[in-house]
Amino acid sequence: MWKPPERIKYIPTSQHWPSQQLAAKSMLFSPIRLGPITLKNRTWVPAMVPWRSNEQGEVTTDVLQWYERFAQGKPGALVVEATGIRNVPSGPLLRISHDNYLPGLRDLVDTVRKASAGETKIFIQLIDFLSIRRRPKSDKFLKVFLQITDVHRNKLNSPTASDEEIRMALGEMDADALQHVLSEKEWEDMQYGYRERVTDTHLPQIDELPMVLPALFCEAATRAEQAGFDGVELHYAHAYTMASFLSATNTRADGYGGSLSERIRLPIEVYDAVRSATSSSFVVGCRFLSDEIIEGGSTLEDACLIANKFAKAGMDFLSLSRGGKFDDAKQPKVGWSAYPYTGRSGYECMPGYISDAQGPFGRNIEPVAEIRRSIREEGFSTPVVVAGGQYAFDQAEAVLQEGKADIVGFARQALADPDWFEKVRTGHGEQVRLCRYSNYCEGLDQKHKQVTCELWDREQRDAPGVTLSTDKKRRLIAPAWHREDPA
Ligand SMILES: Cc1cc2nc3c(=O)[nH]c(=O)nc-3n(C[C@H](O)[C@H](O)[C@H](O)COP(=O)(O)O)c2cc1C
Ligand code: SF4
Repeated sequence: MWKPPERIKYIPTSQHWPSQQLAAKSMLFSPIRLGPITLKNRTWVPAMVPWRSNEQGEVTTDVLQWYERFAQGKPGALVVEATGIRNVPSGPLLRISHDNYLPGLRDLVDTVRKASAGETKIFIQLIDFLSIRRRPKSDKFLKVFLQITDVHRNKLNSPTASDEEIRMALGEMDADALQHVLSEKEWEDMQYGYRERVTDTHLPQIDELPMVLPALFCEAATRAEQAGFDGVELHYAHAYTMASFLSATNTRADGYGGSLSERIRLPIEVYDAVRSATSSSFVVGCRFLSDEIIEGGSTLEDACLIANKFAKAGMDFLSLSRGGKFDDAKQPKVGWSAYPYTGRSGYECMPGYISDAQGPFGRNIEPVAEIRRSIREEGFSTPVVVAGGQYAFDQAEAVLQEGKADIVGFARQALADPDWFEKVRTGHGEQVRLCRYSNYCEGLDQKHKQVTCELWDREQRDAPGVTLSTDKKRRLIAPAWHREDPA
């Protein structure tokens, strides 16, 4: 992952954990209304893909155990990982693309309700993503994948050469010369692997996205409601389809790109479709970016305008992330796919402990505060969720007290210690296992390996009932918390 050049090391520490009485009086542990429902408190576990499903995208026993463990900590809300809305094979990513998935998803909801004694509300993040392929070997790309056209023939001054002759000629060129003959897109496909973009409107499946996506999101949300979820989070963040529509880099000329009002058109149409297909007791919100952190991308100013339009449309919550784009991702190794968290924008999404003068903790707070201020000024009371480097009670409480956000998300901190919420709420904060922000978990995600935390995955691996990862080296679930009362 990209690291700020200053390379300053930070160690999370927290001296001030509240007593149970103080926690009970805090804003963090006070209820909040979220559209038609109430969260017991203002803590939130944002979506995290743990690679626990199977090739069919089903809810497996490992998926159930993963969410059961988070629910035991009783956060106010738990968002289930990015879940695919299309009925196409997508590796071991969870899917909600067919009614066949309903029984598994019902089990998941029941598991979370039971483990949290009904205290945690459960949402599911709905995602659409475009096709991406692994980086090919250069010779294979030139021999097999590259489509030879007259542009190549003309650039090589060989107007009558056969495809084979052109491929041979390209194969013998050095990198500089080759880059001159290939188009920018062909060069990128060879260096990074082929990747579709929302602007590839010459491809029928991309051109028709505005026609097909509202129905796909709508069907998925309907299933989520049937499965018993309290609501859905529409994934409009990071490197995926809907975020790409919102992006300032979206230049589609069909009324769904260009100006902000055109870029936001599809996200609003999707929201409207989902809202009208689900009942009034079902929560519908979205996650989007406070800043894309890429050249030519959407900025905080765009995010304020977008937030106002979402609030006006009636979204029940706005959850803000940051960065996480393909645009500045590092070149993957041959045989690997590009990963959108390897560039600077990836750092801003999941800041690690090696940082700059600002540090890795709460880099999203001020932008989110600005977004919240902007929607409040327009008269909207939509709750706003902030995430990014939150691990301490004081820090989260200050965010709420100062009116910078309404709900605080703890992603990696909840992975490091799923009991953070119960420990802090019951006055056992000093027993919290603090996340180091090492991004070991994110490295596993990048390799599509089962995600665990380095702080606990080697502990008591031989204990009865412990499930191990496929490489048998790591336990998959954090050890249980054996409550020790403070002396
Ligand atoms: C292993 C892993 C998987 C993630 N998967 C998702 C995801 O499915 N959807 C999403 O919106 N964010 C995802 N994220 C980003 C987190 O939700 C969160 O925004 C980010 O980690 C920053 O918050 P934190 O500092 O509290 O961890 C993931 C993060 C990690 C570490
Ligand atoms: S591996 Fe554990 S300690 Fe490291 S960032 Fe992930 S959750 Fe935090």
